[in-house]
Amino acid sequence: MSDYQSLFKQELKEGLGEEPKRISSKWFYDQQGDELFVQIMQLPEYYLTRAEEEIFKTQTAQLAQSLTGDFETFDLFELGAGDGQKTFHFLRELDPKKYTYRPIDISSNAVNKLQGAVSFEFPNVQVDPIEGEYFHALEHLKSDRPKAILFMGSNIGNLLDERANEFLKRLSATMQSGDTLLLGVDLKKAKEIVLPAYNDSAGVTAAFNLNVLQRINRELGGDFDLRNFEHAPVYNEEEGIAYSYLRSTKDQQVTISAINGYYKFSKGEKLFTEISRKYDDTALEVITRDTSLELTDRFFDGEHLFCDAVYRKR
Ligand code: AVI
Repeated sequence: MSDYQSLFKQELKEGLGEEPKRISSKWFYDQQGDELFVQIMQLPEYYLTRAEEEIFKTQTAQLAQSLTGDFETFDLFELGAGDGQKTFHFLRELDPKKYTYRPIDISSNAVNKLQGAVSFEFPNVQVDPIEGEYFHALEHLKSDRPKAILFMGSNIGNLLDERANEFLKRLSATMQSGDTLLLGVDLKKAKEIVLPAYNDSAGVTAAFNLNVLQRINRELGGDFDLRNFEHAPVYNEEEGIAYSYLRSTKDQQVTISAINGYYKFSKGEKLFTEISRKYDDTALEVITRDTSLELTDRFFDGEHLFCDAVYRKR
């Protein structure tokens, strides 16, 4: 069995043994989850991707200068690369002889597809993909060359602040003085804009959230009946955090054979699956505290929905 499957089992056992029960959103991303997330990024309500893509399309030269202007040759890492859509604008701006592109994603399906797509569109770019989750990927970030790291899409926002700060401290520890980091973050804003992004009218986000139960059924012998759970997102405007839950619509029991697990859900019980943090200056300050990362530039879309913040290691 892969390390990956044993981690999945271990985390599931822990999370479902807690009160309230929880499953980490990192398990959303199997092949179906990746496909659903690609659909989410195209939804009219999901403004995040469009806003960040606008930054990448309209301020590409400034971004490239800010991130890589000082480097002769370098490694370009991308954490949680996904389908790399936005990154393509950036790659067009760079000299292929100067860098190796090293996308990292928890989904082997996503990194393999991305490698193919980049090699097709940029035949002269050297691509060296890495499969793994963020914390695990830190081990691969050692490099003798200067590095620029892309961490886009508000992916950092799926970590609680404390964990995000811990991650950024460890990320910064892998960087040499002068190395750069682009952190893409969704900005705090009104509930009327944020909540629909996590509760779209076509029901794609609901399917994305429910897919984690289907994945457990497929991979770990679970018997979740998806008809008995519903997607239940909440946005706390003051905190700036969207929380996603799966609510049990009846009293029920679920068995997961691979972990010898037997779980009771009562009607209305909420299984916690994801946080999506929205940032302001204070929240950004909190997650970058004690990191040796200095904020050097900020790029916004026209409506100020999203921010790509560039940091340099002191
Ligand atoms: C990947 N991540 C930043 C997305 C988000 O907005 O939190 C995942 C997502 N969850 C529901 N819709 C999108």
